[in-house]
Amino acid sequence: MKTACVVGGSGFVASLLVKLLLEKGYDVNTTVRDPENQKKIFHLLALENLGNLKIFRADLTDESSFDAPIAGCDHVFHVATPVNFASQDPENDMIKPAIQGAINVLKACAKSGTVKRVILTSSAAAVTINQLTGTGLVMDEDNWSDTEFLTSVKPPTWGYPVSKTLAEKAAWEFAKENNIDLITVIPTLMAGPSLTPDIPSSVGLAMSLITGNEFLINGMKGMQMLSGSISISHVEDVCRAHIFVAEKESASGRYLCCGVNTSVPELAKFLSKRYSQYNVPTDFGDFPCKAKLIISSDKLIKEGFNFKYGIEEIYDQTVAYVKDKGLLPK
Ligand SMILES: NC(=O)c1ccc[n+]([C@@H]2O[C@H](COP(=O)([O-])OP(=O)(O)OC[C@H]3O[C@@H](n4cnc5c(N)ncnc54)[C@H](OP(=O)(O)O)[C@@H]3O)[C@@H](O)[C@H]2O)c1
Repeated sequence: MKTACVVGGSGFVASLLVKLLLEKGYDVNTTVRDPENQKKIFHLLALENLGNLKIFRADLTDESSFDAPIAGCDHVFHVATPVNFASQDPENDMIKPAIQGAINVLKACAKSGTVKRVILTSSAAAVTINQLTGTGLVMDEDNWSDTEFLTSVKPPTWGYPVSKTLAEKAAWEFAKENNIDLITVIPTLMAGPSLTPDIPSSVGLAMSLITGNEFLINGMKGMQMLSGSISISHVEDVCRAHIFVAEKESASGRYLCCGVNTSVPELAKFLSKRYSQYNVPTDFGDFPCKAKLIISSDKLIKEGFNFKYGIEEIYDQTVAYVKDKGLLPK
């Protein structure tokens, strides 16, 4: 029986990861910032009947708070990250706590003496943001987002990609210096059903062309312009990839994890045909039809991982989920 710690268990990805680990027979320790907040952790408490789940209090900015949840663990999944896209102070709200959090988690792993492998959740935002032009570019694990460009030009939401890039780089540096077996999983925008009480913001974004939320449709367009593509994965595939690389002896380094590469106009065309009952816009004027790049999951697939869900299943399941949540009429 193995014990895993999932840092930031209340989130969209982490709560499903906790569930899958329990279902696989792992004992799971997970951390949340406020274990007294029943409303925020109700969905985690509901997983306690699946196996041995312990919930601890920890904050990314509090180094010693990770000692207890990580002590005795074989694997640590560092999933948590501060997310505040509307922040006026990304440096203090996202960048510093993300870097500090990665180091604090790794310090506790080094101290534990039991942790064999650490899996950190990065983001495609740490890989694809660059000033290259053209179409047909292929992004792999050698690519890093250009933080000098991001911090000087400050495009909307710049703090998030900077926080993810610098936190992942800091983690690699600390892991190398301290001989920690670190693997990073680098997912794209995720959709799919969530265990969380509220609909995750990434699901709202991925569904915007169907719900008609203009602000979020503009967010999707901004994403394509800044990141180079609309690349989407099913949250369950991303969680499965975390467990896969944790268990696969030969795995090492970074792993991009991307189910589908598309663009806003191409996605809109697909959605409008598949869900003709919704008013999906398809005229985007001179907005680029083709994405600048694709995100390659070749390394993960060559390692032996199989994606379970394509674009049809991702959207069929997400539409059913948001209907259930009342975001779309039943
Ligand atoms: N969702 C996506 O489309 C997407 C795409 C690419 C990469 N990712 C990455 O996947 C990971 C999970 O994302 P998600 O969508 O599941 O995010 P989420 O639902 O917003 O969850 C974020 C988690 O981070 C925790 N957190 C934030 N600040 C913290 C702090 N100072 N100390 C401790 N915990 C803190 C939150 O805990 P509280 O409950 O205490 O607030 C929450 O559990 C992140 O690393 C994200 O960058 C996500």
